[in-house]
Amino acid sequence: MDMVELRHVEKAYGRPEGPDYVEVLRGIDLTVEPGQTMAIMGPSGSGKTTLLNLIGTIDLPTRGQVLWDGQDVAAMSEGQRALLRNQRIGFVFQMHYLLPQCTALENVLLPTLARPGGPSRPAIERARQLLERVGLARQADSMPGRLSGGQRQRVAIARALINGPRLLLADEPTGSLDAQSAEGVIDLLLELSQRDGLALIVVTHAEAVARMFAPIYRLSSGRLCQDLP
Ligand SMILES: Nc1ncnc2c1ncn2[C@@H]1O[C@H](COP(=O)(O)OP(=O)(O)OP(=O)(O)O)[C@@H](O)[C@H]1O
Ligand SMILES: [Mg+2]
Repeated sequence: MDMVELRHVEKAYGRPEGPDYVEVLRGIDLTVEPGQTMAIMGPSGSGKTTLLNLIGTIDLPTRGQVLWDGQDVAAMSEGQRALLRNQRIGFVFQMHYLLPQCTALENVLLPTLARPGGPSRPAIERARQLLERVGLARQADSMPGRLSGGQRQRVAIARALINGPRLLLADEPTGSLDAQSAEGVIDLLLELSQRDGLALIVVTHAEAVARMFAPIYRLSSGRLCQDLP
């Protein structure tokens, strides 16, 4: 069974006949297997974030189905979806969304706060290990304001991994970085994916970043096309 399967997924925003009505996705079929990596490209406004939000169960399709482990996401309760997101899916955004008043370590621990009792000792230990893996062992107690853009993005990656997800969704994770830091962040993501069997979907505008992945998908006019290898 596929980990994630999109069946003829369509997504529109607004009410039909309304002034803001926009059909963004017009029939997407896609499967994501455990450990699989892929890049998604496409012009601004083509629906890449919309697609990640559907895969990540943040939003629901207008038509068609998103299945997680064979189960229709639309048939789950809000609570079930929230649990799925918290336990199985890690998110990394273009803007890292670190809390400026919390240290790097505290930021990594944020997703564990959904559990009663706050971060456990093992969670804190795991957060330290993750910061070490992303090369920031010495910055654990630094405030985000004292970190570089690339370092902040690596804290965001560690945070996305704290609950041991099976799928990492990265929406332009290198958008605010120079080419060299961007390559470093992508190398790190690919290494984490390979070592942990973590599936990885990266949205990017940079051809150089996309070329580090296979397959490469392109979104345009609401449809997804795969680049020929
Ligand atoms: N919550 C929303 N309500 C209404 N329209 C939306 C909403 N989210 C996105 N849209 C519209 O859907 C279209 C696709 O947006 P989306 O953010 O998915 O594009 P994108 O490919 O991620 O673009 P970018 O590369 O600029 O991030 C755009 O026309 C956008 O205005
Ligand atoms: Mg976007």
